[in-house]
Amino acid sequence: MTEPIKVAVTGAGGRMGREVVKMVLEDEALTLAAAVDPSAGPIDAGSLVGKPATGVLVTDNLAEALRNSGAQVLVDFTVPHAAYGNTVTAIEHGVRPVVGTTGFSTEQIEALDKLCRDAEIGGLIAPNFSIGALLMMKFAAEAAKYMPHVEIIEYHGDQKLDAPSGTSIKTAEMIAETRQELRQGNPKEEEIIEGSRGGYYNGFRIHSVRLPGVFAQQEVIFGGHGQTLKIRHDSYERAGYMPGVNVAVKKVIGYTGMIYGFEHLMD
Ligand SMILES: NC(=O)c1ccc[n+]([C@@H]2O[C@H](COP(=O)([O-])OP(=O)(O)OC[C@H]3O[C@@H](n4cnc5c(N)ncnc54)[C@H](O)[C@@H]3O)[C@@H](O)[C@H]2O)c1
Repeated sequence: MTEPIKVAVTGAGGRMGREVVKMVLEDEALTLAAAVDPSAGPIDAGSLVGKPATGVLVTDNLAEALRNSGAQVLVDFTVPHAAYGNTVTAIEHGVRPVVGTTGFSTEQIEALDKLCRDAEIGGLIAPNFSIGALLMMKFAAEAAKYMPHVEIIEYHGDQKLDAPSGTSIKTAEMIAETRQELRQGNPKEEEIIEGSRGGYYNGFRIHSVRLPGVFAQQEVIFGGHGQTLKIRHDSYERAGYMPGVNVAVKKVIGYTGMIYGFEHLMD
């Protein structure tokens, strides 16, 4: 039998991080090497799955955790201002990053790809790990070939830090690859209240709704002659992202360079 993959988790005390800790502890092919979070206080990793998690290094110091735990993969679900630094630290220690935190710029992704290639390790930045959301993006990119008039509406909880969501940006990028270039709407259009028409991306708009009670949803709406097409995805709980994270942790061992988007690892 092959040795379990040693996984460190940053943001281990957060809502997504706790799900990752649980997923790792429940899979015999993985070992939880370290749980890192500066503000969560001591994390009782074992309590998340109702059994002791022995040998887990719990700390707020990522570099120390990576040096001392033998981690091979780091899964990061933290906050936009911490995730880039955590990813660099992982690569510097030869640890493959699997990053779910959203808010990375194109320049940051390119810089991290170079660092991964120089270190000859793999990495993944995935704005969305859920299969339904990825299919929504693929179907939207397909529809945009035939219906280029499109707007995106994404819905998240009111405490989300970044807007628009990483998923909507990724969707917009995939749509832009297949859609004929076109500036939509009336060129004489005026916003009476600033921002009413949403964020502008490559000729079309992204709207971000932030409300308590909402988890994560997105609609991609296409308009044509006398018709609209809506492609919608609804996430109801964080556990829905874990099968994707699990696959990513196992696949990231086998390639070099930073991949952006879980759709590239799906097949
Ligand atoms: N890719 C996906 O499929 C997906 C799905 C859901 C959420 N997200 C993203 O995941 C991120 C986390 O979401 P959440 O709801 O778990 O947030 P959260 O606020 O519940 O948790 C974030 C945790 O990160 C910790 N943290 C902050 N700085 C840190 C650092 N430098 N090192 C280690 N830990 C640090 C915080 O103390 C906190 O416990 C967000 O960016 C969110 O958009 C991605």
